Amino acid sequence: MDFNITDTLTPQEYSFFRKAVEWLPATAPQAQALQNSSKFAVARTHTGQPAGMVRWFGDGGMLYVIADMIVLPEYQGTGLGSCLLQTALAAIRAEVPTGQRRTVYLMAAEGKEPYYEKNGFVIRPNTAQGLGAGCTLVIEP
Ligand SMILES: CC(C)(COP(=O)(O)OP(=O)(O)OC[C@H]1O[C@@H](n2cnc3c(N)ncnc32)[C@H](O)[C@@H]1OP(=O)(O)O)[C@@H](O)C(=O)NCCC(=O)NCCS
Repeated sequence: MDFNITDTLTPQEYSFFRKAVEWLPATAPQAQALQNSSKFAVARTHTGQPAGMVRWFGDGGMLYVIADMIVLPEYQGTGLGSCLLQTALAAIRAEVPTGQRRTVYLMAAEGKEPYYEKNGFVIRPNTAQGLGAGCTLVIEP
């Protein structure tokens, strides 16, 4: 199925995504707060219905956080999640001038670590990067 990738997400759509994958609900102020700092990649069907999302935020120089990777159950396993993740990483790469090292943090849900490893992240804790839950991806210049 073809999707359009857009850069907007309403608070209502965010709540819808969380419910669809049985995550704890966000309060209305929490869902609204995403608009303060997050950037979004949202896959939509040809009718504009949301199918998958990811969001990220960072300091524009050294450090980024990727969160809320969600693909609706009916679209999972079709490559959409990886497409969204790579869209976010491409945007992060484009935002920082070349020649600068950036670290992207991501808290993997239990059991999802191998998924992120496939997408270039390194599982922590590890010897080089030390303790820390989740995974990090260092984008070399
Ligand atoms: C995790 C999630 C975003 C993945 O999206 P998706 O569109 O289903 O994944 P993709 O189709 O892009 O998967 C691509 C590859 O990862 C693999 N993969 C998917 N889940 C995996 C897992 N838990 N462990 C290892 N590999 C996994 C797929 O088999 C596929 O492999 P292939 O490319 O070799 O065929 C989606 O399953 C989801 O929304 N889950 C519920 C919410 C959630 O847990 N989000 C993650 C929070 S950290």
